[in-house]
Order: sequence, then structure tokens, then C-alpha cells
Amino acid sequence: MSAALNIRPAQAADAPAITAVHCSNVTHWQIWDSGIARPARYADLTAYQRWLHGGAWFDPDTCAQHLERLFKGGGYALVAEVQGRVLAEAEFFVAEEPPPYGRNLNLSILYVHRNYHGQGLGSALLRAARALAEREGCETFLVANAEAPEFYRRQRLRLAERWRRDLVPVRTTTARYTAEPLADADYELVRGWALPIGRYQNAHHDWERTRPGAVPDFEEWRGLKGERYTLTTGRQRAIVAFEEGQPGLANTFLFTPPDGKGYTPMLFAAVRDLAARCGFKQLHCLVRSDLKLPGAIKTDYVHQLFKLQLKK
Ligand SMILES: CC(C)(COP(=O)(O)OP(=O)(O)OC[C@H]1O[C@@H](n2cnc3c(N)ncnc32)[C@H](O)[C@@H]1OP(=O)(O)O)[C@@H](O)C(=O)NCCC(=O)NCCS
Repeated sequence: MSAALNIRPAQAADAPAITAVHCSNVTHWQIWDSGIARPARYADLTAYQRWLHGGAWFDPDTCAQHLERLFKGGGYALVAEVQGRVLAEAEFFVAEEPPPYGRNLNLSILYVHRNYHGQGLGSALLRAARALAEREGCETFLVANAEAPEFYRRQRLRLAERWRRDLVPVRTTTARYTAEPLADADYELVRGWALPIGRYQNAHHDWERTRPGAVPDFEEWRGLKGERYTLTTGRQRAIVAFEEGQPGLANTFLFTPPDGKGYTPMLFAAVRDLAARCGFKQLHCLVRSDLKLPGAIKTDYVHQLFKLQLKK
């Protein structure tokens, strides 16, 4: 790519151009009727139907709202423009977590306009994100869900872990614990904490994801619950968030403080019990592949975490 390439922080006003970048990578637009997909035209889709193709980026309004929340929550977005036209976008959060990640920058989004793949834009944004990680004093540069592994390998990142999503029925137990509803709070509350369940990106990113108002108030999602509690079992503290994706099935996020034991079966028994009392039937739990959750049924949803060690 020529010298006309410019990398700069994104602004909410870039939303239409960022939406165009993401939409260019969709080959088939669809409408789902009672679970059955049929072809559709982009112009005929509602903001919710556009969201189903991969999230906030596929509609300019939801994209602008998403960017505003990202910036407010301390996240970053960069765009690559050529002759003033935005052709690629990257997003990331810096989190502080216990080893093996430490202070880390995790790249959650990297998209290049389909007509401009293979011209160096993706690697230019990756280099800019890595330079920012170094300026931010990060120990590791991560891509927690690498969907283009060969691309990251060429950029010297290496496969470090696999995470898999289990389906776990809730279960009332005699586990002794206390649970208090948690008011909204920013990332400072859990800075330094681990996220042994639900680390889809990094602890800062997923903390922002579970905060009230993180996603639009679509009519189709009304009635789905988001719950957050502080949990105490014996001397162990944790924060658990449940994000109901479909009636009765909740995505689980478990944050544990650095001075504690992290995940323990006793803590998980309390999580399952609390989920039952909240009215959920099943939990989705994304965990590192070496963690065995009691009662878990494996699904084929897997993340490959790629890592570059920046300093020890
Ligand atoms: C993956 C993506 C970000 C790469 O960006 P790009 O601008 O096309 O890549 P670059 O031109 O910077 O390529 C750098 C190198 O990686 C290679 N490469 C690019 N995309 C690749 C892919 N998907 N798989 C393997 N190698 C890839 C290029 O051939 C090039 O190799 P070279 O240095 O030997 O010439 C871009 O293709 C894209 O937006 N894809 C769709 C969305 C996606 O999958 N994003 C990743 C989400 S984790």
C-alpha cells in the first residue's frame, strides 16, 4: 500500500465508513424466520436483523452507539484510511490480569474492506496496535479469538491456548454462599482480577460487555435478563454475571480477585445454584481447555488464543 496510508484513532463519526468495511465482508444477507434463513436485501433488514450478521458493526446507528460506549469504557479503535477513505478497522482493550496474560492488549476486531484485502492494511493496523501495547507497558499482545490464524502466525503471534464453551445445567445445591446484587461500576472495580469463565476477549473487554446498557434495547431481546452479583463462599470472593442469550440459557462470566484461589469447584457450585435461583435452566461457560467443569456438556464452539510476549 502506498504512502497515502494513514492510521488514526477512530471517532463515532466514522461509523458509516466502518459499517461499510464490515458489510463488505458479508457475502449473503439473510432474514431468519422461526430459525429458518432466507436471502434478503440489506436495505430491507431492521437494525436487529443486521446485528444477527455479527454484531453492532453492520448498521451505522448501532455502530456509532457501540463506538461511543467503547471509548467511554476505555477501549480503543483505530482506522486505516487511504486518500481519506476508511478501509479497515481494529478495536482493542488493555486489561490487567494475573499471569499468564499480565497487563495485556487484546485485539478483538480487525476487519479490512473486502476489495482491499492483501494490500497490507491488516498488518499495518496490527503493527499500530502492537506499538500501542508497547507504549502502554503491556507484557502480552493477544488475539483471544483468532479467526485468521495464518495471518497472525505471519505477524509472529503464536497459538498459546484453546478455550471451549461448555453447556452446564444449573443445579441447586447445599453450597453455602452469600450473593449480593452488584450496582454498575467501571473496570477499576476488577482491575487485576482474573476471568476463568467467560474470557471471550480479555477481562476489561468482557467487564464492559456485562455492564447494563452494553447492547441496544431491541424489542426482540426484551425479557432477557442480565444479572450481576458479588459472591462469597467461605473466604473466597468473586463477581458473577449472567447474560441471557435465549430464554433460560445464560452466558456466564466469573471474575476472581488476584489474592484468591481463582476458580474452585465450590465456587462453581455456588454459581450453578445462584443461576437456578435466578430462573435460568442452562449456562454457557467458555473455559480454558484444561479446565473440567462438573456436569459440563462440550459444544463445538472453540476459541484459539494467539499471543506475542512483549516483555517478561
Ligand atoms: C484477515 C485480514 C484482517 C488480513 O488483512 P489484510 O489487509 O488482507 O492482510 P495483509 O495484506 O496485511 O496481509 C499480510 C500477510 O498475511 C497474509 N494473509 C492475509 N490474510 C490472510 C488470511 N486470512 N489467512 C492467511 N494469510 C493471510 C497475506 O497474504 C500477507 O502475506 P505476505 O506478507 O506473505 O504477503 C483481512 O483479510 C480481513 O479483514 N478478513 C476478514 C475478517 C477477518 O477474518 N478478520 C480477522 C478476525 S480475528
